[in-house]
Amino acid sequence: MIRNVFVATAICLTALGCSSTSTSENPAAMAENGLDYCARQTERTLSQIESEGYGMSPRNIAPGDSTWKLCPVSKELWTEGFWPGILWYDYEYTSDEKILAAARKYTEALEFISGIPAYDHDLGFIIFCSYGNGYRLTGNPEYKEVILATAEKLASLYNPAVGTILSWPREMENLGGHNTIMDNMINLEMLFWAAENGGKPEYAEIARTHADTTMKYNFRPDGTSYHVAVYDPVSGKHIKSCTHQGYSDDSMWARGQAWGIYGYTMCYRFTHDRKYLDFATEITDVYLSMLPEDMIPYWDFNDPEIPNVSKDASAAAVVASALIELSGYVDEDKGREYLDAAEKMLDSLYENYRGGDSCPAFLTHSTGHRPAGSEIDYAIIYADYYYIEALLRLKNLKK
Ligand code: GLY
Repeated sequence: MIRNVFVATAICLTALGCSSTSTSENPAAMAENGLDYCARQTERTLSQIESEGYGMSPRNIAPGDSTWKLCPVSKELWTEGFWPGILWYDYEYTSDEKILAAARKYTEALEFISGIPAYDHDLGFIIFCSYGNGYRLTGNPEYKEVILATAEKLASLYNPAVGTILSWPREMENLGGHNTIMDNMINLEMLFWAAENGGKPEYAEIARTHADTTMKYNFRPDGTSYHVAVYDPVSGKHIKSCTHQGYSDDSMWARGQAWGIYGYTMCYRFTHDRKYLDFATEITDVYLSMLPEDMIPYWDFNDPEIPNVSKDASAAAVVASALIELSGYVDEDKGREYLDAAEKMLDSLYENYRGGDSCPAFLTHSTGHRPAGSEIDYAIIYADYYYIEALLRLKNLKK
């Protein structure tokens, strides 16, 4: 990161039901309104879960429920970095020492990840959202060591014959080879950062080659994405591109496209290579052109049951955050277009998708894994992480 954008102070609005703020009128006030709301929701979550201990991670809230489902932290739980990441962002905004103490505890509960063999590609989600933000805000050298050790584990999954990281070692047999999923793009951030901060320089080359190979095989010529690409692990030959969490092999799974938009924007941040910027804009424009009126995608853009299917607020939060960054890399007109779109997304999420009084999550109406019947129309912790990140990015831009 580490993202050098976000510091914040609060403007106080009353209670949970803050008045809505039109994006066109005052984006800075909208960002602060949203961040105040997130701060209140974070307090609620903390008081709900703290007695369970720091080894329990909030994952989701079912529709109609008001308490987080907690999961024990483990090597398989890809979502466990998001709650500490939320605490770091909330601390960045509020400067509240109690939130800082909690951010440290929940982050440090994940330290074991850096000392065990890589289970899969999600190491970046787990360690860079937690330790990455923690290091950015505190400069604690022990946090940096954890990030560097984890980057080395992530790099161990790289297959040079293919030119990508193996996303799911456990699915080799099932999928018919070395597999690389779109989500894996996000985990390159930890490799790029590590290469610039005391880790091996080759991590950056791994990240670049992974991004290039993914560009070739996880996308169609029209800029829409496949969730998964499968390769022969020995020859490196591409075998097939398909889906896992989307509607079909030919469809555009909303969060997959969102990971791509965020991922290629981040690649441009680290490399300044124009090809990543051009690609990020291409896949963003496809996504924007297919959104419904309220700017929040259905879980998959090609589900024939639309509009009678679940939305995915998490994809919208990921894209809103990415667009705020991307708006700073393109020309002025395009930048205004992307920023307007991000502001509309954030406004829509706040107005119609927030947890509010009945649910302590920031956002509801995300879709986890619809084909598996899992987390459909739920509040999910990663939606909250990218939502608060987007609000901080917006606030910082508008200062
Ligand atoms: N990385 C898994 C997901 O987006 O659901």
